[in-house]
Amino acid sequence: MMDPARLDPARFDPDAFLRDHWQRRPLVLRNPWTGWSNPLPADELAGLACEAEVESRLVTGAAGAWRMESGPLPEHRFAELTGAPWTLLVQAVDQHVPEVAALIAAFRFIPDWRIDDVMVSYATAGGGVGPHFDQYDVFLIQGAGRRRWQLGGRCDDGTPLLPHPDLRLLADFGVEEEWLLEPGDILYIPPGIAHDGVALDDECMTYSIGFRAPSRAELIEGWTDHLLDALGDDAREDDRYADPGLPRQDNPGEITPDALARLQSMATAALLDAEGFARWFGQHSTRPKYPDIDWRPERELAADDIRAAIAAGAPLVRNPAARMSFIRQGGTDLLLFVNGTCLPCTGSAATLAERLCAAGGEPVRPGTVDDAALSLLLALVNDGAAGFDAD
Ligand code: SIN
Ligand code: CO
Repeated sequence: MMDPARLDPARFDPDAFLRDHWQRRPLVLRNPWTGWSNPLPADELAGLACEAEVESRLVTGAAGAWRMESGPLPEHRFAELTGAPWTLLVQAVDQHVPEVAALIAAFRFIPDWRIDDVMVSYATAGGGVGPHFDQYDVFLIQGAGRRRWQLGGRCDDGTPLLPHPDLRLLADFGVEEEWLLEPGDILYIPPGIAHDGVALDDECMTYSIGFRAPSRAELIEGWTDHLLDALGDDAREDDRYADPGLPRQDNPGEITPDALARLQSMATAALLDAEGFARWFGQHSTRPKYPDIDWRPERELAADDIRAAIAAGAPLVRNPAARMSFIRQGGTDLLLFVNGTCLPCTGSAATLAERLCAAGGEPVRPGTVDDAALSLLLALVNDGAAGFDAD
């Protein structure tokens, strides 16, 4: 793989970006890379859209008459696309193409758990998906060709949409700014800002580094489901409201403040368990986006295989599809979360886990490993979260 493209510190200051733009206002960066080249040929993108385990969409037509088809697309579909402009959008290309995953490294001034995936689009001249807004922050990197972006105001759930079976298109799009993006240029758009990108050339490719932010409803649902599952395990039928020493009430019809306070604390005590929440969130946020794809190695590796790989100097490389984060546990201990599982790490395993998390997509050489580090490596490799690079 070629060296990943990097943002030139002389042309992009992440601290200033976080202070002035992140989640606040759009920004156009004129080719801030140390060297930009389009990381994915268009025909490979089309190939991905034909694969069953890859999420893709094809939007055909232009202003006012867009049609959407969901992938996987039959190969012959591309030959039929003549005349009218079209856009092909492929989700999570970073999971399948290391050169696309490498783009994420440039945006790691944002924590990994906030990063969703890299969507790649290919459009012919005039192609676009229509004016819309997204719920999430996005960096739109112009990979090849040119695209004209128009930005409008802030939208929310109340913003009127056009009736459309598949696309969330804005009923009114008031253009406030316009930018023409050339290869290497980046447009950052915070959540909720109306936007519309139209390809000016055939072979227009855009890489969207997309972020995620859990909604309040998703957090409450996930955390309470988790708590209920845990309660269900040791079914405490006897874990009930109790009121020994109950004082007599003037009016038996009243539910007293005392009773309510006890009831509410029964319901909320478990919800306020900060340690339990941390563990749940680590697992929740690292769950694989496409759990049906099995990345495990064909043959399960044994400790001796790991020792041999290390002795041969093979670097450990993360599977770009693996989600990995950690939470400190006081001292040097930590909980490592990998694809929805929690691996408690101490000593050398904790040091290795931190190195792996810091490295992102960069290879790591584990060095001499003791039993703790070895069992962490075994777990990661046999889960398909990482592998030793044989070359
Ligand atoms: C595109 O890449 O064509 C569209 C991306 C977006 O507007 O979110
Ligand atoms: Co968008």
